[in-house]
Amino acid sequence: MLTSEISRSKASLRNVALTMIAISTALGLAACGTDGGGAATAEESGPQIGVLLPDATTARWETQDRRLLETKIKDLCAACTIEHANAKGDVATQQQQMNSLIAQGVDAILLVAVDARSLAGTVSKADEAGIPVIAYDRLAEGPIAGHVSFDGQEVGRLQGRALLKAMGDEVPGAQIVMMNGDPSDPNAVLFQEGALSVLTGKVKIGKSYETLQWRPESANMNMSGAISALGVDNIHGVYAANDGLAAGSISALRANKVSPLPPVTGQDAELAAVRRIVAGSQYMTVYKPFEPEAAAGAAMVVAAARGENLTRVAKDEVETSSGKTIPAVMLTPISVTADNIEDTLVKDGVYTVRQICTPEIAAACDTAGLT
Ligand code: GAL
Repeated sequence: MLTSEISRSKASLRNVALTMIAISTALGLAACGTDGGGAATAEESGPQIGVLLPDATTARWETQDRRLLETKIKDLCAACTIEHANAKGDVATQQQQMNSLIAQGVDAILLVAVDARSLAGTVSKADEAGIPVIAYDRLAEGPIAGHVSFDGQEVGRLQGRALLKAMGDEVPGAQIVMMNGDPSDPNAVLFQEGALSVLTGKVKIGKSYETLQWRPESANMNMSGAISALGVDNIHGVYAANDGLAAGSISALRANKVSPLPPVTGQDAELAAVRRIVAGSQYMTVYKPFEPEAAAGAAMVVAAARGENLTRVAKDEVETSSGKTIPAVMLTPISVTADNIEDTLVKDGVYTVRQICTPEIAAACDTAGLT
């Protein structure tokens, strides 16, 4: 499509924007608190940016990404208005949110897809309407314009290596349970591949589960099933793909009186997980620095909204599901255990020692040198 055609189709789409506001409100597309409302038309304000988050199950999206993305977008573009929405894990809701943003004629969309494949159709629709879509954290399918994320296989390798280390490297006959993420999230597939590349041949994988919508309750149920099937004394390690799944697994291990608790991995550096690591019930988490990811996502979506070339803000490239090479920013994940919480999460200002060290874990904090 020619640029002039794009502006024409976007202009006509903008004409329906006001009608769509009522609909978008009903769909949970709330205006960003910092800009005084997304109801302004494009004539009154700068570029309009849509931010679509996947769920409220995993803490990071609402507690870290949303706040950081809004701040960073505003820092780069004070005139930009931001419309954000959370699909609460529902594919149809996210499709509606995409359609609503397309109908409003926003200038760019930053998308964390609930389900990469199911969203491909609306990504194509956005592309046809001349609206670039930035795939944030998860590589959405369809004609996306740019991508920001971490090396997902490396996340899995860090988890796998840490688990082996915690289990004493090669324990003869050691058996683990794998609690993988949602396979409709392409990251979950990468995490699992990375972990298996390290674990295969070193440990026996007694049970392996996929966890739809990354629900901790499902991990809890599956872990109870694994304990009944394998026996309380026969689980020597747990590969949990993220901190929510770690929490669900640990509570099942506890409820079934598995003692001592086997080492459990995680990901996302959630505050509750960091506390569990200090207290000793979770072995590690993978910290994917939120700030640089949000900064790169904001830079990319603002450039896209302004119609600028994305290669200016992207130092890497990735291949999309259709084999096209697009600009990307790929960041490096960090393995966090009790001994480097201070040098990573505290140093980066993600949490203060005070936030981590509640009275119940004060003694463990002292031991870990968190004072
Ligand atoms: C992944 C993301 C992880 C984790 C998970 C569950 O795509 O990379 O950080 O949050 O989703 O939402």
